Amino acid sequence: MLFNKLQEEKIKDFETPFYYYDLDLLHETLSRAKRAADQRNFHVHYALKANFNDRLLSEIQRQGFGADCVSGNEVQKAIDTGFPASQITFAGVGKSDKEIRMALAHGIFTFNVESIQEMEVINELAVEAGVIAHVSLRINPNVDAHTHHYITTGLDENKFGVPTSELEQAAAVIRKSANVELMGLHFHVGSQITDMNVFKSLCVKVNEWKNWFEERGTTIRILNVGGGLGVDYQQPDANPIPDFEAYFDVFDKFLERTPQQEVHFELGRALIAQCGSLVSKVLYTKSGVKKHFLVLDAGMTELMRPALYQAYHQIERVGEDQQSKLNYDVVGPICESSDCFGKEVPLPESKRGDLIAIRTAGAYGEVMASRYNLRDEIRYVYNSDL
Ligand code: LLP
Repeated sequence: MLFNKLQEEKIKDFETPFYYYDLDLLHETLSRAKRAADQRNFHVHYALKANFNDRLLSEIQRQGFGADCVSGNEVQKAIDTGFPASQITFAGVGKSDKEIRMALAHGIFTFNVESIQEMEVINELAVEAGVIAHVSLRINPNVDAHTHHYITTGLDENKFGVPTSELEQAAAVIRKSANVELMGLHFHVGSQITDMNVFKSLCVKVNEWKNWFEERGTTIRILNVGGGLGVDYQQPDANPIPDFEAYFDVFDKFLERTPQQEVHFELGRALIAQCGSLVSKVLYTKSGVKKHFLVLDAGMTELMRPALYQAYHQIERVGEDQQSKLNYDVVGPICESSDCFGKEVPLPESKRGDLIAIRTAGAYGEVMASRYNLRDEIRYVYNSDL
């Protein structure tokens, strides 16, 4: 259960819907991840795209993580939050000239470059600015992440990274680009990955391509293996913190490297998902011919993942007790049939005004919210408010 009895009483005072963030759980999750990474001398950049809420981001910055950004605005946000430029990476297949110029002006740590043409443009803009751009080359390693196809990124059919068939050409472009310095190689094969064998397969590919470059006389200082560690959406209370030790151990064991070579990660979801929940109120209950519906005051506009990926988020009634349950389709107010958080969800018989919590919504939740139907801006409650 999300709330204790005291919190259950207090939470009723807040206007719904809102994102609820448990800053203590965030703190504990970050500490464990940082400790596990530090023990292995690994560097973790937090992927801002998962959630750039100011309070959460400040906590992440305070704990010493770097920032992995995918837009000029994310780079600016990271700078404004206090992340040192030397710990900011900038990824993404479609960086605009304006964004590249801005990141160059800030002197960020690296650009993760996703195509040969992008490499040429970064070089041109670095010449224009009179600076050297540090880059990592994103390689598409053709590793199947065995996750939802919308969040698989490392297959030949995906738009991300440079295909291995073009590496010869990419290496030649890097050699002749005077204002580009190759720092390392970058890989990211997908998100919500729970099978550690996927990361093992990734290590095999990283070793292979690192050797390929080294055999050609290129020094590789950084091996950036991306993010993707999944969380337990089924049992948020039993497993509130991912097993960072097991995850990092895979790379420690299977990644070949010299002591000079740094290993970098870009974790988003695993750091932030569990500390967030969407809390909503039952507006109406109704029974159709075949169904019982709970109509909530939150919808796909606040949490898009179920509608977009058929993603499962545990749904619970606040103050849930042992009484008999009914199977409900839990739906939102938006005029789309996909606006449904779960079908046939067993919940205690509920009434207008009851609170419903949708769990594990801290990652890719509020950042993917929209104003469709001219919905309200997102509201927040933190555990420290209760
Ligand atoms: N690095 C790169 C290059 C990425 O594309 C991503 C996520 C990450 C790191 C962070 O991955 P994570 O550790 O969070 O898995 N909206 C989707 C997820 C999209 C992930 C996009 N890339 C969802 O709600 O499941």
